[in-house]
Amino acid sequence: MRARKASTVSLRQQIEQEIRQHGPIPFSRYMRLCLFDPVHGYYASHAGQFGKAGDFYTSSDIHAVFGRLLARQFDEIWRALDRPPRIEILELGPGRGLFARDVLDWSRKKFPDFFAAITYTLQESSPALRAKLPETLREHVDTQKVNIPAAGSEDQPKRRLAAATPLIVFANEFFDALPVEILSPAGKLHITLESSRLHEVWLPPLADELEFLDRYGVLPEANERIEVPVVAREWANRIAAVIARGVLLVIDYGYTRREQVAGRHRGTLMAYRQHSVTSDPYQAPGEQDLTAHVNFSALASACELAGMRCEKLRTQAQFLMGIGEINQFADAFEDCRIPQERAKVALQLKHLVTPDGMGEGFQVLMASRDVDPAQIATLSGLSFGGGS
Ligand SMILES: C[S@@+](CC[C@H](N)C(=O)[O-])C[C@H]1O[C@@H](n2cnc3c(N)ncnc32)[C@H](O)[C@@H]1O
Repeated sequence: MRARKASTVSLRQQIEQEIRQHGPIPFSRYMRLCLFDPVHGYYASHAGQFGKAGDFYTSSDIHAVFGRLLARQFDEIWRALDRPPRIEILELGPGRGLFARDVLDWSRKKFPDFFAAITYTLQESSPALRAKLPETLREHVDTQKVNIPAAGSEDQPKRRLAAATPLIVFANEFFDALPVEILSPAGKLHITLESSRLHEVWLPPLADELEFLDRYGVLPEANERIEVPVVAREWANRIAAVIARGVLLVIDYGYTRREQVAGRHRGTLMAYRQHSVTSDPYQAPGEQDLTAHVNFSALASACELAGMRCEKLRTQAQFLMGIGEINQFADAFEDCRIPQERAKVALQLKHLVTPDGMGEGFQVLMASRDVDPAQIATLSGLSFGGGS
C-alpha cells in the first residue's frame, strides 16, 4: 500500500516524486492521482464545487424529475423481478447523493411497496463527498434505509445484502470519471519529468490494450489520440460478477465502436476548470476535472461475456420520454402551484431530453441477469427507439 503523503506536499510534487522514484507513469496513473488522491484529488478537494455553480452539473442537479423517473423505472424493475421482499440498489459514484434522495423520497411517496423492499447502498470513493451523504440523506440514514460503506477496496462493488437478494446497480456519470490509457501511433502515453516540467513520452502499449481497440474501438491514425478504458471494462466485469439476479443501468456521455469507426468520438479526453474546457490536462493537477466519453461497446461486451443480457442502447431522451409519457411527466410537475413554476420545470425537463441539452449525447445501457426477457420488454424506459 502506498504511504499517505502529508498534506503539505502538493499533488504536483507527489506526482514528480513518483516519477523520480519509478520512472515514467502511464496516463491512467496520472489521471487517477489527479481525480482520486484522497487529499488533493479533484473529487476530494473540490467537493463543494459541484452542481450548477461549479465546474460541472449532472442530471440530478437540474431537477428532481431525473431521480423521480428513475424511481418509477426501478419500481417497474422490482415488479419484473416478481416483487421480491427485499431488493438492493447499489449506486456507484453518487457524488453528493441528490439522485439517491430523489429516488427514495419519490419511492416512499408513490411506490410504497417497492420502497419497503429497498436497501440503498451509496458507494462513493471521495472522502469529502462521502462525508456529505449522511446530511443529504438524513431521514433515510436514520431509518437505516441507506448504507454508506466506509473507505477501502475502491475498485470493487460493495453490495450490502446477500448475493441471492436481487440487485439494481445504477451508475450516472460514473464511468466517464474512470482513468483511461491513451494510445497514438507513437505508442502509449506516459508522463515523465523534463527540466522539472511534466512531459509526455510514448512507450510501447500492452498487447491487451491494442486488442481492446481492435475489438471495441479504433486504432489511432496519424495525429490521433484514442483512449483505452481498461479500468471501465474491469469495473463492468466486477459489477456483472456481483449481480446474481438483477439489472445494471449505466447512463453516461458515450459512444459505440460503430460511431468511432464512422469518425466520431475519436479522442474524447477533456479537462474542465471553472466552467471552461481546457486543452491541457497537465495544468494544475487536482484542480481540474478530467473525463473521457464512455465506450459502451466495451461495457456491453463485458456484460454479455459474463452471461448478462444487454438491451439495445437508448438515448437519455428515449429512455426518459418512455418513462415519462405514461402520465405526461406528472412526476415533474406535481409540486408546481403556479404557471410560472410549471414553465420553469418544463424548461428543466427540456434540458434533460433535447439534443441541445443532455438528451442525445447521453446513452443508457441496461443489462440484466435472470430476469424474464418478456418482463424486461415491458419496461417503460425501453419503449422508445431501438438504439444502435
Ligand atoms: C462525475 S461525478 C458524478 C456524480 C453523480 N453520479 C451525479 O450524477 O451527480 C463521478 C463520481 O464518481 C465517484 N467515483 C469515481 N470513482 C469511484 C470509485 N472507484 N468508487 C466510488 N466512487 C467513485 C467520484 O468521486 C464522483 O462522485
